[in-house]
Amino acid sequence: MNERTDPMTIITYGHPTLRVKCERVTEFNDELREFADRMFTTMFASDGVGLAASQVDRPIQLLVIGVPQQDSDELFRLCVINPEILETRGAWDYEEGCLSVPDLREMVTRPEWIRLRYQDISGAEHMIEADGLIARVLQHEMDHLNGILFIDRLSPIRRALLNGKLKQMAKENAKICL
Ligand code: CO
Repeated sequence: MNERTDPMTIITYGHPTLRVKCERVTEFNDELREFADRMFTTMFASDGVGLAASQVDRPIQLLVIGVPQQDSDELFRLCVINPEILETRGAWDYEEGCLSVPDLREMVTRPEWIRLRYQDISGAEHMIEADGLIARVLQHEMDHLNGILFIDRLSPIRRALLNGKLKQMAKENAKICL
C-alpha cells in the first residue's frame, strides 16, 4: 500500500451516487491500483472498517475492508472487486453504522456466514468463506455497490421513526453541495 496517497472525500446521505447500481470493473490497470490504495487511505483516515467506491463518488464494483481480528493484531485487509455472494447461512443481529450516514447506529439482521466470489486488483478470481465481523462488513459494503444503505434494511417502523432525521441529513447535504 502506498501510504503517501491523500484521502478522498466521502459523500453522505442525500448524495445521488449512493443510490446508483455500480458498474462492473473491466480494466485492471495502474489507475485502478492507485484508486484502491486511496480507498484504503480514505477508510483508515476515517477510522472505518470498510468503504465502497460509490462512497467516494465513483460508482464501480470495488470495495475495501480493514477488519480487526480476534487472534491477531493485524487488520484483515482485502480489496474486493465485482463480488458475488454464492451462499449464505444463519442470521445475526449486529449494530451497524456507515461513514455515509453519520451519527446513526442501528441493529441490522444479516446472514452470519457467506461464501463469496470476487476479483482482486489484478483481475484474478478468488473464492472466500467468511463469518462474524468480516462477513458483516463485506455484506454492508456489497449493499453499497447496489445502491442500498443499511437503513434500508431496518423494519418499516424503525425506518419511519428515523425519517425526520434522515430528511434533515439529506437537506443539510444538499446545502453543502450548492
Ligand atoms: Co456504509
